[in-house]
Amino acid sequence: MSARVTIKLTVNGRARQVRVPAMKRLLDVLREDLGLTGTKEGCGEGECGACTVLLDGASVNSCLVPAVHADGALVLTVEGLARGSQYSGLQQAFVHMGGSQCGICTPGILVAAHELLVASRGRTPTDGEVREAIAGNLCRCTGYQKIVDAVLSAAASVKVRATAKAKPKAKAKAKAKAKSKAAMRAKSPARRKAVKVKPRKAAVKAKARATRRAKPAAKVRATTKARSKAKSKTKAKAKRRAPIRKASR
Ligand code: FES
Ligand code: FES
Repeated sequence: MSARVTIKLTVNGRARQVRVPAMKRLLDVLREDLGLTGTKEGCGEGECGACTVLLDGASVNSCLVPAVHADGALVLTVEGLARGSQYSGLQQAFVHMGGSQCGICTPGILVAAHELLVASRGRTPTDGEVREAIAGNLCRCTGYQKIVDAVLSAAASVKVRATAKAKPKAKAKAKAKAKSKAAMRAKSPARRKAVKVKPRKAAVKAKARATRRAKPAAKVRATTKARSKAKSKTKAKAKRRAPIRKASR
């Protein structure tokens, strides 16, 4: 028997620690040490997929994975799909469409289908993609059509929910953008005045200011003109008198 090792892993979002033989199968650690019996054993040889779990986001046959390989990993089992007592959309689709045919193959198929939906990111996969995703999960009794239909139905409803959520988000984004633009405008001092004063009043005030500024300039111009006129008059007078003064000498 292999030496015991301490393994720390996160299972369904919860940090767990177990001390087990290093080569103990992950399937057994989940079922025996952590009490998660949702994951089933079918063949025990990596053929049927009943023991499928996600290890760091990728599906594995937990009957083939030594526990020590899961040290520090994130593990998702079928128990982790539901939120408390609330089934996930995928699980609900399986219930409504008759996809959950027996307790041995269904947990593994659910986990494999969940992996596909996560990878699809809201896109509805094709019939072929669903069949390929669950190709490693064998049903020895009934068939796959209802399972495929359930996965497609879940994918479609996820898409509808995502679109419904995205629309209000886009509206909120546009609103926020408009608000920030208005705030930017209000921040500029000139704009702040423009916001406070009504546009018409602002125009009248600006005209008055311009007139006030223009008047002194005009006055200065007039005074300078008058002065130069007076100067030239004086010069002309002096010219006229000059020959008289000469004559008188
Ligand atoms: S029990 Fe693991 S593949 Fe069958
Ligand atoms: S083995 Fe589960 S339904 Fe066929």
